[in-house]
Amino acid sequence: MKCLIVVNAYIKNKSQIMQAERIAEELKRLGAECEIRKNIALAEIVKGNIIAPKYECCVFLDKDKAAARLLEKSGIRLFNNAAAVEMCDDKMLTHIALSNGGIPMPDCIYAPLCYYADASLSVEFLNRVEKLGYPLIAKTCYGSLGSGVFLINDHTELEAFEKSNKLAAHFYQKFIGCGGEDIRVIVIGGKVICAMRRKNEKDFRSNIELGGKGEKYEADERLISLCERVSEILKLDYCGIDVLTDSDGTYNVCEVNSNAFFAEAEKVCGVNIAKKYAELIIAFKNA
Ligand SMILES: Nc1ncnc2c1ncn2[C@@H]1O[C@H](COP(=O)(O)OP(=O)(O)OP(=O)(O)O)[C@@H](O)[C@H]1O
Ligand SMILES: [Mg+2]
Repeated sequence: MKCLIVVNAYIKNKSQIMQAERIAEELKRLGAECEIRKNIALAEIVKGNIIAPKYECCVFLDKDKAAARLLEKSGIRLFNNAAAVEMCDDKMLTHIALSNGGIPMPDCIYAPLCYYADASLSVEFLNRVEKLGYPLIAKTCYGSLGSGVFLINDHTELEAFEKSNKLAAHFYQKFIGCGGEDIRVIVIGGKVICAMRRKNEKDFRSNIELGGKGEKYEADERLISLCERVSEILKLDYCGIDVLTDSDGTYNVCEVNSNAFFAEAEKVCGVNIAKKYAELIIAFKNA
């Protein structure tokens, strides 16, 4: 089987290339031919037809939706599929996709799209956001590694945030839990593979990249069925789901990562995640 692994053209983060190399290593071990490429001119449209390299499948480790759509339309099976990558890339769209499906999530208020830099803030909107209670969380729809997640402590901070972010897609969320802590659950082929608790003593965001430390977490039935349902709704082959635990013990889905880094989870859980993902990809070919 010929398999392509796509990483972003402007990749800076070492973890991204290590992730690609680990998956390539395991795919090769299972007999696949494998190539890691950046999404630079991978496919082009000539006279209205897509000309793409010849691969049977592609592990798409980027969030570039046009590149994903091009490859998929040329007939290559993408892991994860283009629609799922897009859905997870936009946190607000993920939230909407998971709503009405019995998935507990933090209460959420989207910010209306604003086109004008000189538009004045809506008092009605700010009043509604404040009903979430302080502290509350503000998020840009497209953010990674904690960079688009902010803690808002009072009205002054809310106004300042809204003022400087009104032209960017964003939303507000109820603050869940005690801060700096969540559970990262890895799901492959619709099954929970492992879970780790992430704790950050220095920041309300538990991301490993911001200093969070991981430890193995034994997922109970409630957490397993919640995360497997999320993966099923979003039609994901692979994902890392961030879960916040409420004061009454309820699991709340915080966000879903279609390209979750797995190095820390492999280390603390003692599970070969790259191998499990490679097995799923090879099984597709043999099906
Ligand atoms: N509603 C919330 N209540 C309390 N803490 C939160 C909330 N939302 C996010 N956090 C904290 O901030 C961290 C980062 O938030 P989130 O997972 O939404 O974004 P991200 O990690 O930047 O996104 P990505 O995983 O795509 O890089 C979470 O892991 C959690 O520790
Ligand atoms: Mg996250």
